[in-house]
Amino acid sequence: MDSKTFVEKYYIDRSKNNGVKWSRGRKMKALPLWIADMDFKDDERVLKKLKEFIDFGDFGYNNLPEDYFKVFNAYHKKRNDIEYEQEHIRFTKGAVDAIHQLICALTNKGDAIMINTPLYPPFKATIASCKRKVIESEMINDNGHFIFDYKDIERKIIKHKVKILMLCSPHNPLGRVYTFEELDRLFAICKKYKVLVVSDEVHGDIIIKEHKFIPALSLKKYKNMIITITAVSKTFSLAVFSHCHVIIPNKNLRRKFIYYQQSIHSGSVNVFNALPSYYNYLYGDEWLDGVNEVIYENYSYFRCKLSPYLNMTDMEGSYLLFVNMTPYCKDKSGYDFLLEDCHLLVNPGESFDPRYRSWVRINLATSPKNIRKAVNSILKLIKTK
Ligand SMILES: Cc1ncc(COP(=O)(O)O)c(C=O)c1O
Repeated sequence: MDSKTFVEKYYIDRSKNNGVKWSRGRKMKALPLWIADMDFKDDERVLKKLKEFIDFGDFGYNNLPEDYFKVFNAYHKKRNDIEYEQEHIRFTKGAVDAIHQLICALTNKGDAIMINTPLYPPFKATIASCKRKVIESEMINDNGHFIFDYKDIERKIIKHKVKILMLCSPHNPLGRVYTFEELDRLFAICKKYKVLVVSDEVHGDIIIKEHKFIPALSLKKYKNMIITITAVSKTFSLAVFSHCHVIIPNKNLRRKFIYYQQSIHSGSVNVFNALPSYYNYLYGDEWLDGVNEVIYENYSYFRCKLSPYLNMTDMEGSYLLFVNMTPYCKDKSGYDFLLEDCHLLVNPGESFDPRYRSWVRINLATSPKNIRKAVNSILKLIKTK
């Protein structure tokens, strides 16, 4: 589906609704381009199926559709040429819940867990709230293309005896879609020092044209030290339904995880929350291709208009663009500059890493009209500086 048809069919005016994104925008009197959800409603066949479920009115204990895993695998096979074994898949109430449960199940208090910053804040917050030690390795900014600092990673793994590397792949907010070679080099270091890799792949379906998403578990030789977190909560903007998968091929680790889930009465699937994912795995292909087109066009437009003035990441995946507002924001943070002077509500760079105060994260999963409006207000302002 081309982007124009997609926007006409699926863009929703959320400005008067009670969603977090737009209500905060209303309060701040700003166009909301923050938080990671989309301004598009779901595919019409998915909505029809969900309405049928509601209209039937059977809200007693339900089973997952019998072919749930078949459908889940058909989707992954088609999009990324990978299939997962049903036995390896566990459920959680979201990706952050998965991170939390994995840390609790597989490490002890005081253990060191590594992240690559700047990074989606709940990684660090969750590690810290579990009383584990956060070890940060800052990514190297090679002119907007952020890469792993392998030497720093290896040095810190040795020094702190790191137990888990929490990978964000694709990376939020840096928009990186790692290549096979990058992952191979990173995993080889982890293997050498017996570090587990937990790969959060919730952004793996929104990929900018020439790039290819590589699921961590497609590097088969590392499968015993890799755990994947995957969901379509970002892909189809289903944040209201908390439903996520944790894939653990290693039997021993899986056993520990199951034991932990049992100890906190977790791990059973909420069927109502799972159904939107199921129907999107089944019917979402065309919608997903359409939304990828819109995001690609929004990104191309933003980049074309503003890259003569601003540095920004090469957004290879996700719909989140990390933009450096230096030198325009002067002594203000990038966030304050855009809010006060352009009436745009974005995510502050410092929430991803305190060193990135003049950076902002901008959500491009909205209409081209909103992106044009944002670009124009930024352009108008920076041209006067
Ligand atoms: C990388 C990443 N992981 C997890 C989440 C949150 O997922 P959930 O709402 O399922 O906890 C987000 C939300 O933006 C994210 O970007």
